[in-house]
Amino acid sequence: MLSLTNKRILLGITGGIAAYKCAELSRLFIKAGAEVRVVMTRAATEFVTPLTMQALTGNRVHLDLLDTEAEAAMGHIELARWADMILIAPATADFIARLANGEADDILSTVVLASSCHMAIAPAMNQAMWGDDSTQDNLQTLKNRHYQIYGPAEGEQACGDIGPGRMLEPEILLRLSADMFESGALAGKHCVITGGPTREALDPVRFISNHSSGKMAYALAAEAAAAGARVTLISGPVNLPTPDRVTRVDVISARDMLKATMDNMDSADVFIGVAAVADYRPESEQQQKIKKSDQEMTLALVKNPDIISEVAALENRPLVVGFAAETNDIVENGRGKLEKKKLDLLFANNATETFNSDSISVTAISTDGDTELPTANKNVVAREMLQLISERLK
Ligand code: C5P
Repeated sequence: MLSLTNKRILLGITGGIAAYKCAELSRLFIKAGAEVRVVMTRAATEFVTPLTMQALTGNRVHLDLLDTEAEAAMGHIELARWADMILIAPATADFIARLANGEADDILSTVVLASSCHMAIAPAMNQAMWGDDSTQDNLQTLKNRHYQIYGPAEGEQACGDIGPGRMLEPEILLRLSADMFESGALAGKHCVITGGPTREALDPVRFISNHSSGKMAYALAAEAAAAGARVTLISGPVNLPTPDRVTRVDVISARDMLKATMDNMDSADVFIGVAAVADYRPESEQQQKIKKSDQEMTLALVKNPDIISEVAALENRPLVVGFAAETNDIVENGRGKLEKKKLDLLFANNATETFNSDSISVTAISTDGDTELPTANKNVVAREMLQLISERLK
């Protein structure tokens, strides 16, 4: 059974005869566990009614950029952020050209431009239009921008021609969409991830900690599970739901995190240290609340264990991947940490831009050199990171 559990799919319908198949497609997506929202171009409404799509998905269909009521319910930027994947089916030659040009003159093209999620198109058009150089050039542009192109199929066309240009059948589009989330690149691997901050107690009510939302670690955990890995997420205190199919171990302090990590190292194939571990902890934890008396207070701190370095020092070590959130000289500082901590791979990013943000831009640093991953939603970047990790596991 194909699974799209909890996946948010935005189905963009443009004006081709195959639009009528989107009713069945949205039904299949929902049956596979996805939440579906629909955006239609004006031309699409000539082939399938918004009411049909609304009844099938249970959500209001978005038709206009300037519709105040629809914008109040869920604005187009919110919609762009909401989606895990945008599938445009059918994608007409005209819409493909508009995408390639980066146009934003209706709600669907605007949402695509504003979104950094996974993008896929299912072209549908006359075989001569498909074969035309401009269409093929536009498709190449979209491929270069990491769009997935699903189809088209060959066969008899609505216009009577025979050739390539038929939209793929809904069952096939469902399988391709599910495959996109379940790439299987980490099938059978045990992936241990630390995430969030640690808290180092001063007394029963106070602690030292770092800024960390946990979003990057949770995105990696969700995407690693989708790529077929068994995932253990060792998490400091964060306010995020546990991703599907992920085993979460809650910890508070760096020493708890180290213990939970080492408990999992026998079976780990990959260790990804995303946590913002507090480098120091109070020398002693007071059992009762510290009373304020003097104008000044001095705290004695001792160094915490460096979890990732301890993992890298294991005799049978997994692939060890670190993160470095830096405020300056990002790549140089990241490379220094890769070498000092003896890591296989490190992702360096700008700390001030990243905290609490849904998007991130990182540089992947290894002994082979540096690769910049373009700014995108943390889930999209997590997928690219896991791709680099799975290549190294081979
Ligand atoms: O804090 P720092 O920049 O040194 O973090 C670099 C990497 O080391 C990160 O992957 C982080 O999770 C890890 N780390 C750790 N234990 C520490 C400090 C950092 O595992 N005590």
